Amino acid sequence: MEQTLSIVKPDGVKKRVIGEVMVKFEKAGLKIAALKMLKLTKENAKKFYIVHKDKPFYNSLTDFMSEGPIVVMIVEGENAISRVRDIMGATNPKNAAPGTIRSDFASDIEHNIVHGSDSQASASYEIPFFFPSLEIM
Ligand code: CDP
Ligand code: MG
Repeated sequence: MEQTLSIVKPDGVKKRVIGEVMVKFEKAGLKIAALKMLKLTKENAKKFYIVHKDKPFYNSLTDFMSEGPIVVMIVEGENAISRVRDIMGATNPKNAAPGTIRSDFASDIEHNIVHGSDSQASASYEIPFFFPSLEIM
């Protein structure tokens, strides 16, 4: 059993696909173990994406991630980290396989609807970033 952190990004909330994202995870047999809506400050977004601090898209990404409400969730199941990544699809929606979240809903490489931890190390940073243990079912 594994847990991963997923986010419906501000574009996903605006496009009203929060439910569709959760349906894809739940239909795949994964379980939502924690869930809430919040708005990141620019500083919070920079901290969350600290691994990308030297990337050319860091400033634009953290502006985008702090521009509106997001839905954060913990998704749980066997191999949840890689399975959520598969259900999300490639970072660039142009390369995302049909039926993935990003293929179905994303408009471009930055505004790509959804986040998912990419490893156990990142899940271990990202889960407690948003959820105290009392909020994890
Ligand atoms: O989200 P994912 O793990 O698939 O991609 P990433 O390489 O960890 O990048 C994090 C986020 O930065 C992406 O989901 C995009 O929103 C954004 N990004 C971007 O704006 N331009 C890029 N060339 C790559 C990523
Ligand atoms: Mg990533």
